[in-house]
Amino acid sequence: MLKNMTKNEFNRLYALVQDKIGVEIGCGIGNITKAISGSCKRVYAVDTFDHVKVEEFVEYVKDCKNVRLIESFPHLASKIFNENELDFVFVNGEQTESGIEQTINDFYPKLKMDGVIIFHDYHTEFFEKEVLPEVKEICDRYYKVHDGSLDSMVWIIKRNEL
Ligand SMILES: C[S@@+](CC[C@H](N)C(=O)[O-])C[C@H]1O[C@@H](n2cnc3c(N)ncnc32)[C@H](O)[C@@H]1O
Repeated sequence: MLKNMTKNEFNRLYALVQDKIGVEIGCGIGNITKAISGSCKRVYAVDTFDHVKVEEFVEYVKDCKNVRLIESFPHLASKIFNENELDFVFVNGEQTESGIEQTINDFYPKLKMDGVIIFHDYHTEFFEKEVLPEVKEICDRYYKVHDGSLDSMVWIIKRNEL
């Protein structure tokens, strides 16, 4: 069982990324990375590894052949991808207001039409007051209507805006 996610969230995430290629921002030691690698086609795992050791991540996912590590800030990592290339972006790392905003601006254009951007830590009731994330405020500002939400996870599907 994953420590940082509810069972509902994980099951939905697993379904959203099934057979898809995408990015996980804030992979940490790779708990979620390893778990979703069983569902997705390929996942690029992005982290700065300031608080966890990259070696731990590498060891933890060593048998997952569809995991690619990007040790970097999300902003720099985003430059690797072309526009309309990714099926999913799962954001679970940068939780400052400016960081989330930057991540949306950097990665949303990289999504294919019908691709999905998924945010964890949206609903604040799951957290202690002193570590309240800013995800809700930013998501609500950028996307007035979410396509889906479950516990503290929300997702938005990219559509042709004609
Ligand atoms: C909530 S933890 C993620 C836990 C991880 N998904 C797991 O299952 O173990 C947040 C992660 O985001 C990373 N992080 C924080 N700020 C970041 C940033 N600006 N860019 C990339 N990663 C960042 C941290 O290093 C940490 O590993």
